[in-house]
Amino acid sequence: MNQETLKKLVGKYATRYVEDDMTVGVGSGTTVKYFVEALAEKVKNNNLKIKCVATSSQTARQAKRLKLPVYSLCDINQIDLTIDGADEIDSNMNGIKGGGAALLREKIVATNSQKNIWIVDHSKLVKNLGRFPLPVEVIPFGYEQLMKKFEALGYQPVLRTNETSAIVKTDSNNYILDLHLGKINDPIKLATILDSTVGVVEHGLFLNVVDEVVVGNSDGISVLKR
Ligand code: A5P
Repeated sequence: MNQETLKKLVGKYATRYVEDDMTVGVGSGTTVKYFVEALAEKVKNNNLKIKCVATSSQTARQAKRLKLPVYSLCDINQIDLTIDGADEIDSNMNGIKGGGAALLREKIVATNSQKNIWIVDHSKLVKNLGRFPLPVEVIPFGYEQLMKKFEALGYQPVLRTNETSAIVKTDSNNYILDLHLGKINDPIKLATILDSTVGVVEHGLFLNVVDEVVVGNSDGISVLKR
C-alpha cells in the first residue's frame, strides 16, 4: 500500500471513534482530509448529530463544504474527542506537529479535548524526535532577533516561506520558524525553553497530549495506546 492509501485507511478507520451527539475536534493536514471526508459520509448515512471544531481555516472550509456543522471553540461546552495528524511520534507517544502551520490552534483544541487520537502512516513513527524540523510559531514583530537567539543556541532556524518565497502566515497572522535540530535529546527541556521565550507564541512539541495513535502499516492498522 502506498502512503496515500494508508492515509485514507486511517482516516476512515478513525470515524469509528465518533458517536452521536459528540463534539469532535477536527485536525489539519493531508491525513485528516481523508478523515473529514469519511466523517461527512458517516454523519450523513447515520443521521448523526455532532458538532465539529476545526483546527485550521482550511479544515473548517472543507468541513463546511461537506455540510459538517462547524462551531467556534467559544460556542461549545467541551470537546469529547479530537482526531488529528502528526509529523513525528516517538516511542513515548510524544510528537511533533505543525508541518501544515496549524500548531497553535491544534494545541488549543487538543488541550480542550477529553481524548486525543492521532492518525498517521507508519513513516511518522521514530525513535527520537527532531529529524522533522520543529515548527515554532512566532510574533512577526522583531522575529529576526529570535532567529539570532535560536542560531546562537544551535537550533538552525529557518523562516518558513511558500513556493513563491513569500513568508508563510499562520491563521493567527504569525510566522513560523522551523528549527533544524536533527535529534531532540530532551523534549521536555526544549519545550520549557521555548515556552519561556518571549515572542514565541507556541511550538510544535506535543508532549503527553495524545491518548491513542492509529497507525497505517502495509499489512493493516495498529493502534498504540498510552
Ligand atoms: C498541521 O499543522 C500538522 O500538525 C499536521 O497535523 C501534521 O503536519 C500532519 O500532516 P499530514 O497528515 O499532512 O502529514
